Amino acid sequence: MRTRANEEIIILPDLAGISETAAQRFAALARERAPFSVALSGGGTPRGLYEKLAAAPFKAQIQWTRVHVFWGDERCVPPDDPGSNYHLARETLLDRVPIPSENIHRMRGECAPEAAARLYDDELRAFFGSPMPRFDLVLLGMGVDGHTASIFPNSTTLREITRAVAPASAEYADRPASRITLTLPAINAARCVIFLVSGADKAEILREVLDSENLRYPAQLIHPVMGKLVWIVDAAAAALLEAV
Ligand code: 6PG
Repeated sequence: MRTRANEEIIILPDLAGISETAAQRFAALARERAPFSVALSGGGTPRGLYEKLAAAPFKAQIQWTRVHVFWGDERCVPPDDPGSNYHLARETLLDRVPIPSENIHRMRGECAPEAAARLYDDELRAFFGSPMPRFDLVLLGMGVDGHTASIFPNSTTLREITRAVAPASAEYADRPASRITLTLPAINAARCVIFLVSGADKAEILREVLDSENLRYPAQLIHPVMGKLVWIVDAAAAALLEAV
């Protein structure tokens, strides 16, 4: 199993364990910095984490007025659409914690992808004061095809090296195809990137991503330049990994 100096792989028994460990890391990182900028991930895996952060003991441990929430990617659907990553975070976390509305930096999924990407780029520049954001934390998931955020295999987004945000499009599961995503440079500029990976269906791709030397998948290209990479995975997803 590949581990580099600034990388950590944590294996928990199940998704509940992933959510608890991720909540502990989130709360610890949020205590270190003010403001604390975090890019949330979408999909199904982070739901338990978001619910934990909105409940005891984590809700009271985090100073929500210091937290600024962004997204790693968004589907191009309205914010109240069940397919929206914002909608997931709103119903499981943001509506349950005292975070000021001005600290919620939503990707405009209701806009056309290119327009939404440009709007978000403006929002990032306004907050970070530079063309490339340096998030304190980026949360990521990984698809069975090795995509992360909305950076998919063989996509043009993979080759984006100047923009922080780009439009994307991909058929994946039953999810909306048209998307907006942070790019590899934006993610790799983060102080900390945490992958949450759960389930037996991810075992094969996780082995490929962590144990294979040939770089075929977007998730293999996530290496914070001056930051830490943490994989928080469950036993089912880790079942095929080589022993340390
Ligand atoms: C999205 C996510 C995407 C997700 C993976 C894993 O918008 O869909 O950002 O990158 O994290 O597809 O999704 P699951 O957690 O549902 O397996």
